[in-house]
Amino acid sequence: MSDQTPAVELRIAHVFFKNRRVLEDLNRRFPSRSATAIYGPSGSGKTTLLRTLSRMNDDVEGFRVEGRVLIEGENIYSKEVDASRLRRKVGMLFQKPCVFPKSIYQNVVFGLRHRDGIDRKALPEMAESVLREVRLWDEVKDRLNEWAPTLSQGQQQRLALARLLILEPKILLMDEPTSSLDPRSVEAIEALIERHSKLRAILLVTHNLEQARRVCDEIVFMDCGRFLESPPLPHSSPAGEELLNY
Ligand SMILES: Nc1ncnc2c1ncn2[C@@H]1O[C@H](COP(=O)(O)OP(=O)(O)OP(=O)(O)O)[C@@H](O)[C@H]1O
Ligand SMILES: [Mg+2]
Repeated sequence: MSDQTPAVELRIAHVFFKNRRVLEDLNRRFPSRSATAIYGPSGSGKTTLLRTLSRMNDDVEGFRVEGRVLIEGENIYSKEVDASRLRRKVGMLFQKPCVFPKSIYQNVVFGLRHRDGIDRKALPEMAESVLREVRLWDEVKDRLNEWAPTLSQGQQQRLALARLLILEPKILLMDEPTSSLDPRSVEAIEALIERHSKLRAILLVTHNLEQARRVCDEIVFMDCGRFLESPPLPHSSPAGEELLNY
C-alpha cells in the first residue's frame, strides 16, 4: 500500500435492507490521518454507512451492498476478507457507550487478550497510556479492578474509546459519540479527535455542526442516502441552507 492509498474509498452503487434502498451513489475517498465529519438529517443513512464500513450489518437479514468498499485498497466485501481481520484496522464507537461486564482494566485490554506478539507484562503500561489519552486515568487509577458498568455514562464512553485505541486502529468510526455526554467527557473526546486525526482516519457522525467545525478537517453532508456534492455554505443554495438548519 502506498502513502497515497486512501484509508477508505467508497465505490458504492447501492446499499439495501431487503428491498429498501438506503444508500446510493456514494463515491468518495477519505484520506488517512484526517478527520471527516458526516452531517445530515435523521434517517439520511449515516449510521448505515459507518456500519457498512465495518461490516457490522453482515448478520442483518436482507442487507446487501452493490459496489465496493475499499479499506486501505482492499475490498472488504470480497470473499477473502474476514470480519475479524477487518476489526483490527477499523474501530467503531457507538452513541451509547458499550462496556463489557468486566473490570475497568479487563475492558481496556480486552481486544489484546488473544493477539499474538503482545508482551503481557507491557499491558498495564499500555492500559495506563490509553486511559490517559481519554483523560480517564485520574478518575479510575485507584479502582481498575472495579466493575466497568458502574462507571458514569461519560466515563463509560471514554473507557470504550480507550479499549479501541489500545488496538491502534487505522480507521476510527464514531457515531454521535458525544451526543448524550457531560461537558468534561465531550471535551476529552473532542481533544482526542483533534490529536488522533494526525495519526489515523476518523469519520465522525455528528448532529453538532459546531463540533464538526471545531475538530474535523472536512465536513461531508448527507441527505436521503447520498452525499451532497457541494457542501452548503451559508447563503448558498436554498437546499443547502435547509440542511444546515434541519
Ligand atoms: N436494520 C435495518 N433494517 C431495515 N432498515 C434499516 C435498518 N437500519 C437502518 N435502516 C433504515 O435505513 C435508513 C437510514 O437509517 P440510519 O440509521 O442509517 O440513519 P441516520 O442518518 O443514522 O439517522 P440518525 O441521525 O437518526 O441516527 C432509515 O430509513 C432506516 O429505517
Ligand atoms: Mg444514526
